[in-house]
Amino acid sequence: MLTSILNLTYLIGALAFVIGLRRLSSPDTARRGNILAAIGMGLAIAATLVYPFEDAPNNYPWIIVGMLIGAAIGWVSAKKVKMTDMPQMVSIFNGLGGACAVALAMVEFRHYYHGQFEIPTGELLVIILALLIGAIAFTGSILAYLKLDGKVWDSQVTLPKHSVINIILLIVTLGLSGFLLYKGLSAGMIMAVVVMAVALVYGFSFVAPIGGADMPVVISLLNSFTGLSAAAAGLIYGNQIMIVGGILVGASGTILTVLMCQAMNRSLLNVLIGGFGASGSKGPKTKGDQAVKEVTANDAAIQLFYSNSVIFVPGYGLAVAQAQKALKELDDLLEANGVDVKYAIHPVAGRMPGHMNVLLAEADVPYPKLLDLDDANAAFPNTDMVVIVGANDVVNPAAEDDPSSPIYGMPVLKVWDAKNVIVLKRSMSPGYAGIPNQLFFHKKNQMFFGDAKKTIQQLVGEVKTL
Ligand code: TAP
Repeated sequence: MLTSILNLTYLIGALAFVIGLRRLSSPDTARRGNILAAIGMGLAIAATLVYPFEDAPNNYPWIIVGMLIGAAIGWVSAKKVKMTDMPQMVSIFNGLGGACAVALAMVEFRHYYHGQFEIPTGELLVIILALLIGAIAFTGSILAYLKLDGKVWDSQVTLPKHSVINIILLIVTLGLSGFLLYKGLSAGMIMAVVVMAVALVYGFSFVAPIGGADMPVVISLLNSFTGLSAAAAGLIYGNQIMIVGGILVGASGTILTVLMCQAMNRSLLNVLIGGFGASGSKGPKTKGDQAVKEVTANDAAIQLFYSNSVIFVPGYGLAVAQAQKALKELDDLLEANGVDVKYAIHPVAGRMPGHMNVLLAEADVPYPKLLDLDDANAAFPNTDMVVIVGANDVVNPAAEDDPSSPIYGMPVLKVWDAKNVIVLKRSMSPGYAGIPNQLFFHKKNQMFFGDAKKTIQQLVGEVKTL
């Protein structure tokens, strides 16, 4: 009877995950979707706590102490994290999911090994899968976190011929795993530890050369790995809710990876084998006989105020400056003067999928004002002014016209098709991919240097006087 009630609770929890995930697809329902999925997770944890296990009674003191420590760390970090650091936090949490799968797989292998029970091949296969995928997701995500946080540069962790090293490491990892599967428990505990160690090294090494504009792909891929490792761990214990949760994360991560590859116009293999280089140096304000044109707040405000149509292009700098509310105020003032205002959203703008949508939703920008890449590119030729707010790589014409550029072929927002462009940023520094941007020297472009929040507030002040 108890088991039936608990299984029903798992089913309700799984439904909450699915409906919650569905609701995340629109900003209007996302908050409630998140709460619903969290309730589902609460139900799953509660049911697991009272689930009767035949051979091993629940060890409540350890479980409760572990949960309290984990909940405290999660709560404090979620409260303290800055909006701009969210991608790093997501990466760390992702990695910890992989680490959990590794721990569960090792404990289960040890359990069989010390008990000298016969281990069914299917179960050993699932243990090895959880171990492998979890280990790769763990060290890969930790390196992704270090890169996103600017603590490590690609060049510091990439060796010459790194893709060859990665292929060798992959063959060694798979070979040793095959040996463990073939030999079973007789391969010994040491062999399980060796497989784990090699997979941990491979996870780090496989992310090492991937950087710059390719990071979104690798982050989504690691996300799907974590989900798959959790699903494998769920199979080890025959725990339905863990299997469902893991598969949902794995499937959504895989779909996101495909979407990110499409957004970058690159195949997954191409991303995994070829790495992007990044220079990271600040560019000069002149290039040969070309010099950037600067614009004053007053001049920019007049141009905006008397336009028929304006498109804002937000990028990572909007998140850094936390300028979304000031931008909405400027939008309201322009709309009040009859200007048609829209926002162009590039799928990889910012540092996490949907980053710009979240920021703009926080400032109550209505969803229908957001244009996706294709719609924005179709709208630019009929647009009077484009204002780029802290975006760089996603508006870099090198993707269109410089075959030697690492981002050549990546679809970008063709802002230069509009009648005029203003770029709001603090300096001539390149964006995340470390590539100089010729747009800044374009004849239609004017630069308005400064922190985006301050420059937008200046524009708001000037527009109010018109
Ligand atoms: P970026 O190319 O990174 O450019 C952001 C620009 O914002 C910088 O050039 C910076 O110039 C400016 N900026 C920073 N702080 C600012 C502030 N306070 N005020 C005004 N400007 C500021 O951003 P993007 O165009 O959004 O492109 C995203 C890049 O990140 C792509 O290469 C993408 O592949 C990569 N990436 C994306 C993701 C996801 S999932 N979206 C994940 C990882 C990496 P200044 O320093 O001169 O101000």
